[in-house]
Amino acid sequence: MAQKKIAVLVGSLRKESFNRKMAKALIKVSPDSLNLEIVEIGGLPLYNQDFDDNPPVAYTQFRESLKKFDGVLFITPEYNRSVPAVLKNAIDVGSRPYGQSAWNGKPGAVMSVSPGALGGFGANHHLRQSLVFLNVPTMQQPEAYIGNAAKLFDESSNLNNDSTREFITKFMHAFAEWVLRFASKGK
Ligand SMILES: Cc1cc2nc3c(=O)[nH]c(=O)nc-3n(C[C@H](O)[C@H](O)[C@H](O)COP(=O)(O)O)c2cc1C
Repeated sequence: MAQKKIAVLVGSLRKESFNRKMAKALIKVSPDSLNLEIVEIGGLPLYNQDFDDNPPVAYTQFRESLKKFDGVLFITPEYNRSVPAVLKNAIDVGSRPYGQSAWNGKPGAVMSVSPGALGGFGANHHLRQSLVFLNVPTMQQPEAYIGNAAKLFDESSNLNNDSTREFITKFMHAFAEWVLRFASKGK
């Protein structure tokens, strides 16, 4: 069976981002049925509806690049109990012009990662609210709120925690099954 291509969007631009480290860890434990690729979102100008008729090249490239993917995986920190602006911006850019949303029908999953104890629960669920509207069928279980992230990676940015590795492996296998459920829809 052909691999399913998954876009990975990371909601942090920070060089030492725990979320980016987690995205790389997820790629390592992902089953062979998935092919994950981080899609960069830091270069997208702030979304402006005036650009819908004459979009910046970065918007067009981003929207086009999303077309090749069968699903989308969001790995995000929580900023002020919500979704970081850089990730919301990418979601908004991908959603327009009206009626041409790049997200429509693509199966998704969300993981939030925070050095705090709550694991970014607020961001995770605010993000899910947008995904309902965007018709991204989003995996419900297992939920993934990864807390205490500052303790999870070694000096080489590798995951150093066996139970977290076990959990994210389970998460990625569940996501692979979730994506397959939608495979016949041709998205
Ligand atoms: C503007 C701002 C707001 C933040 N708000 C929250 C928050 O609401 N909840 C939380 O758990 N951490 C919050 N943090 C801390 C982030 O979780 C922390 O900076 C984390 O390392 C960001 O993810 P990253 O390592 O992937 O960059 C906030 C950080 C910033 C810069």
